[in-house]
Amino acid sequence: MPVYSEKVMEHFMNPHNVGEIENADGIGEVGNPVCGDMMTFYIKVDDNRLSDVKFQTFGCGAAIAVSSIVSEMAKGKTLEEARKITPALVAEELEGLPKNKYHCSNLGAQALNKAIDDYLKKLGKEAKTRRRKKDEGA
Ligand code: FES
Repeated sequence: MPVYSEKVMEHFMNPHNVGEIENADGIGEVGNPVCGDMMTFYIKVDDNRLSDVKFQTFGCGAAIAVSSIVSEMAKGKTLEEARKITPALVAEELEGLPKNKYHCSNLGAQALNKAIDDYLKKLGKEAKTRRRKKDEGA
C-alpha cells in the first residue's frame, strides 16, 4: 500500500469543496481509462476570478485529496493564474505523492482546465449571441 503524506490523508479524510455548483459557469469532466477514476470540476467566475470551485470525484484516496487541494488552490485566482496550477504544483502542495499515484494529480489540473475551457467557450457563444441580437435590433 502506498505511503501518503499527512496532508494527503487530511484532504482525503476531510475533503474541502465537495459537491456541485448549480448553474455553474464552467464544468470540466475527466477520467482515467486505466484506473477508471472520474473527476468533475464546477466553477463560478466573477470578474475573471474563480469565485467558487467545487468537485465530485469517484476515485482513489489520492484523487480525492488532489481534487480537494486543487479546489483550494484555484479559489480566488484569476483564470490565468488558475491555468498555472500544474500536476507538479499539486503534488508539491500535498507534500508529495507516491510515484504510482502521480497520475492522480494530472486529473485535478486537467479537470480544472477543462472547466475553464468550458466557461470560455460558453462566454464566446454568449458574446456572439448578444452581438447577433444587437445586429438584429433586439
Ligand atoms: S488511481 Fe487513478 S486517479 Fe488515482
